[in-house]
Amino acid sequence: MPFDYHNLRAGAAVASSDEQFAQAVLEGLSKEPKRLPSWLIFDDRGSEIFTEITQLGEYHPARCEFEIFQTHKQVITDMLAKQAFRAIELGAGDGGKTQILLEHFIQNQLAFDYVPIDISEGAIKNLVAVLESRFSQSTMSVTGLAADYFDGLREIRAHSNLRNLVLFLGSTIGNMELSAAEQFVRKLRELLNEGDYVMIGFDLMKHPKTLYSAYNDSSGVFERFNLHLLDILNRKLGANFEKDHYVQQGHYNPSTHAVESHIYSTREQVVFIDALGREFSFGAWEPMQTEHSYKYTQTEIELLAEKSGYRIVKHLFDTHHNFVDSIWEVIK
Ligand SMILES: C[S@@+](CC[C@H](N)C(=O)[O-])C[C@H]1O[C@@H](n2cnc3c(N)ncnc32)[C@H](O)[C@@H]1O
Repeated sequence: MPFDYHNLRAGAAVASSDEQFAQAVLEGLSKEPKRLPSWLIFDDRGSEIFTEITQLGEYHPARCEFEIFQTHKQVITDMLAKQAFRAIELGAGDGGKTQILLEHFIQNQLAFDYVPIDISEGAIKNLVAVLESRFSQSTMSVTGLAADYFDGLREIRAHSNLRNLVLFLGSTIGNMELSAAEQFVRKLRELLNEGDYVMIGFDLMKHPKTLYSAYNDSSGVFERFNLHLLDILNRKLGANFEKDHYVQQGHYNPSTHAVESHIYSTREQVVFIDALGREFSFGAWEPMQTEHSYKYTQTEIELLAEKSGYRIVKHLFDTHHNFVDSIWEVIK
C-alpha cells in the first residue's frame, strides 16, 4: 500500500505510556515550584491547536522554517539526489512544512519513501490522508506510524537498509533541556547507519521581546494550548481542574536559556486527581510550568553535533538568522 498507517500504540504500549504519563504528572505536581514536561500537551486536540500556532504571524519558528524550506529546497534535493532514501520525520504533526520538501522531491523525481512518526494518532491519520489526496499520482510511498519516536524508529529499522534522512523540525528539540537533547541525538545516532542524515530545526537566541511576542500571541492561541493540558489531566487522570481559574503567560528565562510558559492559578484551590488518589493545593497566583523551549546559539548547536558523533553538513538559515535547520551526517 503506497499510503498506509499503523498504530504501534496498542495493548501493552498504551498501558506503559499511560503509566509514564501518570508518573510524569505526579512528579511534576510534587515539585516546588510545580513543573510539567511539554510532551504531555500533545494529544490529538493538542496537536490541532499546535497547528493553529504554526499559522500565527507572531510565531516566528514556523514562519522561518517555512521560509527556509522554500528558499533551500533545491540544496536539500541536490544532497539527496544520488541514491534512493527514506525520509523519516519524528513528531511530524501536520507535516505542513515537510510537504514543501516532499513536493519538490517528487517534482525532481527522487526515489524515496516517507515515514512520519507521531505520538498523536489523529495527527498521523490526517497527515496520511492529506498526502494521499495531494500525491497519490506520485511514486512516493508513505507509511505513517502512531508511535513514540524511538518505538517508531526501531520498527522501521527492522524493515530496510535505505539511506535515511531523519527530520526533527519545528524546534521540538527545544522542548528538551540541553542535556536531554544531547541524550536524544546520541540515542538517535545509535539507531542510524553511517552516512545517514539528520535535519534538526533549532530556534536561535534572539531579542527577548521577540520571543515574548511569539509565545504570548494577541489571539490567545498559546494560552488555549497550555490550558488544554488541564483538559487532558481531567480526561486521562480523572482530575477536577476548573480551567476558568487559570491563566497562562510565557517569558524568556535568562538562567535556563529557554522560553518558559506557566499556568497561574488565579485563586487558592485544591485539585483532586483520581488516578493518583491525591489532592494538590494551589496558592493564589501560584505558577505551574507547562512548556520549555530552549533557545540555541550556533556554537551550542555545533558542539551538540560534534560531541554526539555527527559531522555538520550545512546550516540553512532564514533571512534574519532567527532559526536554523541544521543538517548533520552520522559518523560511526
Ligand atoms: C512542537 S510539535 C512540532 C510539529 C511539527 N514537526 C512542526 O514542525 O510543526 C511536536 C510534535 O511532536 C509530537 N511528539 C511529542 N512527543 C512525542 C514522542 N515522544 N514521540 C512521538 N511524537 C511526539 C507531538 O505530537 C507534536 O506533533
